[in-house]
Amino acid sequence: MAREFRTVGVVGLGTMGAGIVEVFARNGLHVIAAEIDDDAVARGLSHLDTSTSRAVGRGKLTQEDADALLARITTTTSMADLADADLVVEAVPEHLELKTGVFGELDKVCHPDAVLASNTSSLSITELAVRTGRPGRLVGMHFFNPAPVQRLVELVGTVVTEPGIIDDLKAFATTLDKVPVVIGDRAGFIANALLFGYLNHAARMYEQRYASREDLDAAMRYGCGYPMGPLALLDLIGLDTAYEILETMYAESRNLMHAPVPLLKHMITAGLKGRKSGRGFYTYAGPHSSKVVPDAETPDGTVPDDVAVRDIQRVGVVGTGRMAAGIVEVFAKAGLDVVVRGRSDSKVAAALAELRKALDKGVVRGRLTEDERDAAVARVTGTTRLEDLGDVDLVVEAVVEELDVKRAVFAALDEVCKPGAILTTTTSSLPVVECAVATARPGDVIGMHFFNPAPVMKLVEVVSTVTTSPEVAATALKLCERIDKVPVSCGDRAGFIVNALLFPYLNDAVKMLEAHYATVDDIDAAMTMGCALPMGPFELLDMVGLDEALATERALYAEFRDAGFAPAPLLEHLVTAGRLGRKTGHGFRDYNVR
Ligand SMILES: NC(=O)c1ccc[n+]([C@@H]2O[C@H](COP(=O)([O-])OP(=O)(O)OC[C@H]3O[C@@H](n4cnc5c(N)ncnc54)[C@H](O)[C@@H]3O)[C@@H](O)[C@H]2O)c1
Repeated sequence: MAREFRTVGVVGLGTMGAGIVEVFARNGLHVIAAEIDDDAVARGLSHLDTSTSRAVGRGKLTQEDADALLARITTTTSMADLADADLVVEAVPEHLELKTGVFGELDKVCHPDAVLASNTSSLSITELAVRTGRPGRLVGMHFFNPAPVQRLVELVGTVVTEPGIIDDLKAFATTLDKVPVVIGDRAGFIANALLFGYLNHAARMYEQRYASREDLDAAMRYGCGYPMGPLALLDLIGLDTAYEILETMYAESRNLMHAPVPLLKHMITAGLKGRKSGRGFYTYAGPHSSKVVPDAETPDGTVPDDVAVRDIQRVGVVGTGRMAAGIVEVFAKAGLDVVVRGRSDSKVAAALAELRKALDKGVVRGRLTEDERDAAVARVTGTTRLEDLGDVDLVVEAVVEELDVKRAVFAALDEVCKPGAILTTTTSSLPVVECAVATARPGDVIGMHFFNPAPVMKLVEVVSTVTTSPEVAATALKLCERIDKVPVSCGDRAGFIVNALLFPYLNDAVKMLEAHYATVDDIDAAMTMGCALPMGPFELLDMVGLDEALATERALYAEFRDAGFAPAPLLEHLVTAGRLGRKTGHGFRDYNVR
């Protein structure tokens, strides 16, 4: 018979513990919550109060239910009070010795049948288990932050876990409306093992001043649809907790991507632990507040007086592919005159027809009026002659992703475009500076990396090379605002911000699958339900195309030479076998091919 968990205990009422208590109490369970002293109990209760009041404010909980929920919680500063619990979840800070001490005490006071669980994000469950007198009944039960919101629970069994316990906990987690995934004991389990390399990488970009904190975060929100940027997420997780997780992961993987960046240590030493201390990468209204307040790093959005922004009214787009067509649509809808240049009359005609079709769709969906559509169409002219771009103020090059072709286009544009015209490329992986030096105006060349589909995706990475002039960068940023995009500034290196952060993470997911640690479905579930990402890594890889992903990963590996970036052999094999994802009907999953 499955064991029942009627009375549950939680040790530690911090960021996670308070959330876990709320999950249990919301589901009608009596919870005994233990903390270190009265002050910590008061802090924990205030977390609970804030969280339940917020739920009431948002109409997700009635005041009556909130009161009943809080009434089901008993707090204590004595472990002895956990004697009656059927299950105790430990959520104290991420230190092996501290957790060992807590479990040692629990082992003494809890009845022999009680199950002990750790909410550790990275420490070895096996190591914790064997230090108690009940190694078979100590498992991992890893909730995600914020616990009342994120549905994933990673259930971690060890080689000595008693049969049945994981199944019972799985059933129990389901009754809490959580989605359990069952895995073995490995640093970072599924979600953190994939998430923390990415977070650390973002912290490194910030440390290297590759991009500002605001731009790093905006890039992942608007380029990938993530609910939060990486630095804001590190602040939410807590920099001290994140540091410990990375330390443990590095100790196991020896992968430099997991070696915590030095800046994290400095910030923790200085007391900048994230939201909990009121300051981390961002500054908050106070400790535990989620409200970001301006500080010395907050950009004021103004262009310095000595930087003259150029006037852009007429733009050129070179290319008639998917990106070019989307960019033409964006410009035309924003009221700019557009000249689109294709290689043949038929390509130009097809691009104009596509534009018309896309705008018609917008009318049908009520996104623009017929007059607006007609005005947008009238603003666009097509040509096969590059000379017709002679009078434009800015050009976006969106031809095939081949350096020689792009260099030739830039050399030709340089010949025909008027002095002062800005030449931009929407390359996603080639060095922008290569395009710049193909011209006699390298100061006027910049990257404007739009995302696919351009009319939908808000982000544009504005990529300055070592030669780009400040005026040109300021003009490109201003233009992005005019066309209703969110621009972020970054330097000219492989992957810019988004792809450099995204693809190593996708690659890590493939490596995890290759190591048979978890299934495609469990990994996707972990990232969507544990980290609230809009798509799991395999769903995304199949959509992007495995060949495209491999090309991007190879470009990143070639530039940074970081062993952790080396493409997973499984990805190479799938590409070799022609399993490229949705477009071929087979990738990590199989699709119905019509
Ligand atoms: N922060 C996250 O996003 C996150 C997500 C999932 C799991 N985790 C894991 O959850 C655990 C807790 O992390 P957190 O972020 O909640 O930390 P936290 O620092 O916010 O909270 C830890 C709490 O434990 C209390 N505590 C310390 N020693 C204690 C003891 N001996 N007895 C009782 N209480 C004690 C502290 O007073 C504090 O309130 C860690 O193992 C962490 O890795 C964290």
